[in-house]
Amino acid sequence: MASPQFIRDKVQTIIQLPTLPAVAQEVVEMVENPKTSASRLGRVIEADQALTGKVLKIANSAFYGFPKQIATVDFAIIVLGFDALKEIVISISLVSALQKKGDATFDAHRFWDHSIYSGVIARRLARDLGYRVSGEVFVGGLLHDMGISALHQYFRNEYDEIQQRAESSGLPFIEAEREVLGVTHADIGGWLAERWNFPNHLVEAIFKHHEPLEAKENPDLVSIIHCADVLANTLCGSPMQYEEGLTFHPDVLHRLHLDDPGLLDRYVENYRSIIASDITQFKSMFGAARD
Ligand SMILES: [Fe+2]
Ligand SMILES: [Fe+2]
Repeated sequence: MASPQFIRDKVQTIIQLPTLPAVAQEVVEMVENPKTSASRLGRVIEADQALTGKVLKIANSAFYGFPKQIATVDFAIIVLGFDALKEIVISISLVSALQKKGDATFDAHRFWDHSIYSGVIARRLARDLGYRVSGEVFVGGLLHDMGISALHQYFRNEYDEIQQRAESSGLPFIEAEREVLGVTHADIGGWLAERWNFPNHLVEAIFKHHEPLEAKENPDLVSIIHCADVLANTLCGSPMQYEEGLTFHPDVLHRLHLDDPGLLDRYVENYRSIIASDITQFKSMFGAARD
């Protein structure tokens, strides 16, 4: 069995995973720096013409709901804010990385749907629960399971073995991951996030989305991503194999003041009707962004 350290080294150094483009990396770092001004950030984005075009398309989409035409990146930053800009730039950069081709053992279409649902729900849940909405919530939801995609692409034999073991033994997929690899897709996703120099709380959200009580940096963020993950499975039809058996952690519901069962049911029903339009908008804007 490959050791966890071997897998970590392979994830971080050997495999040719997409690196975050330099401009996206720079945007992530600038947004984290309180001294960054809107005009400086605008200049960095505008230096990349293709990115500028995509940012403006998305900023003008119904998803962000700004009533007037946004014609410049500076204006987009002022009206949408740094966090939304970061959310847009990271999403543009990573959408193609997530949209890999599937096969008989990995349904890429459903994986992508689950990612989008989780991002959109996390964003809405954070707002509805009164948490400070930031780009991390959306990006964390979108990317929380990217370790699954990496596992399938770069550790194919192990992926197949995990799947077979989960099927034959009835173990949850994540337990089969631990048995076969000694690590989980959450660890692999977290290492990738570290490699991309994501902010610590985003790295943590990816690392800990299945163990939300272990969060230290930002337990609220991890709790929201965890709940969005479960809700995404509830609202997006049948879960993929690697998500089967996933349930809300009771302590997380308590932390988010969602531990009244009637309240949670109302969220589910409410989201069932409103999330669909968010999803359509998200898909169309990223479809447009890939032109
Ligand atoms: Fe997961
Ligand atoms: Fe998930």
